[in-house]
Amino acid sequence: MEKSVATPGDAKHAVQLRNVRKEFGSTIGVNDLTLDIRQGEFLTLLGPSGCGKSTLLGMIAGFITPTAGRIVVDGTDLTHVEPYKRDIGLVFQNYALFPHVNVFDNVAFGLKMRKLPKAEIEERTRRGIAMMKLEGLEKRRVRQLSGGQQQRVAVARAVVIQPKVLLLDEPLSALDKNLRAQMQVELSELHRSTGLTTIFVTHDQGEALSLSDRIVVMNKGEVQQVAAPIELYKTPANGFVASFIGEINALPDARYSVDGDTATLAIQGVGELKAPRRPEWSFANGTTVRSFLRPEQVVPVEFGSTGPNHFEGVVEAHIYQGAQTITRVMIEGIGLIQTRVNGADIIARQPVGERMVLRFEADDAILLPTGFV
Ligand SMILES: Nc1ncnc2c1ncn2[C@@H]1O[C@H](COP(=O)(O)OP(=O)(O)O)[C@@H](O)[C@H]1O
Ligand SMILES: [Mg+2]
Repeated sequence: MEKSVATPGDAKHAVQLRNVRKEFGSTIGVNDLTLDIRQGEFLTLLGPSGCGKSTLLGMIAGFITPTAGRIVVDGTDLTHVEPYKRDIGLVFQNYALFPHVNVFDNVAFGLKMRKLPKAEIEERTRRGIAMMKLEGLEKRRVRQLSGGQQQRVAVARAVVIQPKVLLLDEPLSALDKNLRAQMQVELSELHRSTGLTTIFVTHDQGEALSLSDRIVVMNKGEVQQVAAPIELYKTPANGFVASFIGEINALPDARYSVDGDTATLAIQGVGELKAPRRPEWSFANGTTVRSFLRPEQVVPVEFGSTGPNHFEGVVEAHIYQGAQTITRVMIEGIGLIQTRVNGADIIARQPVGERMVLRFEADDAILLPTGFV
């Protein structure tokens, strides 16, 4: 099925993937994937392990040959072009540097391969080293560097060749939390200062949300949704995306009906949720829908409160997270519901094992027809 995510008026496309497919024997790594990557954007491939992210990147870089489909970079069909002729910068999780070679020569590698004049190699390498804050380490062997420094060398090496596209395959996964946060900022700055079209791979949704212009959510070799981070969070296209992006509470199937401006979600044997009708809720009365609520859309209220959208349950756990606390409440007929509140007062106020009341802010609910979940 040919489906294009491009809309008329899009900026020029740096990479165009058309029905790209990769089979490994009977395993499908990437399944007829069609995608346009805009010039200069920071695009993230996000999905669980094994969903085909690395395979897709490998096909763009050229070291994995597609079973079918076309790969066009900067207007040129590269499907059958050798990797070293593609002008694509590549960084992996495990660096792939030359451990016994010094920083300068590692960064200069791609330029020497291209047989550029010596003066230009020196100049570009020096700029790459400065850009990635590696000055003073030029003569150091790579194996004498920290993980973060090694990853900066790998990025510098990929960038100095002035690639048409920069591919980053989980480059931060091996780094500890603080270093990862710092490198995320540096990658953002690098992208802003170079304007390089960047395809970044991660299985970490937080990393994807914070870095990307657009995110491609993948599952089982297929694109689930392509959207900007906020759009993905607020209007996931299906249950997989809703559950993969951020934390979410999935409610049991409910019968949808509308009366005037009020929508009602009736959960059999449990009760009703009421919400002002939203334009995107275009279901016919009687449709079975699945609803999703983010933890911040579930609000603890005073015990004994009743009314629409109020449900009582038993506190199962508090997860203290510093500025916020996640509280898990088991509600009969609905299941385990997570709420997120500021501070830690709730831990003493609502001890584990006691009953508490939650109000569901259903006006912000994400509703999907069950057939799509
Ligand atoms: N060389 C290979 N031989 C056989 N199967 C492979 C090979 N490379 C990847 N696969 C399979 O293809 C699917 C996608 O893998 P991959 O692209 O590495 O996923 P991801 O990078 O998203 O974790 C997985 O099922 C994986 O086992
Ligand atoms: Mg991978």
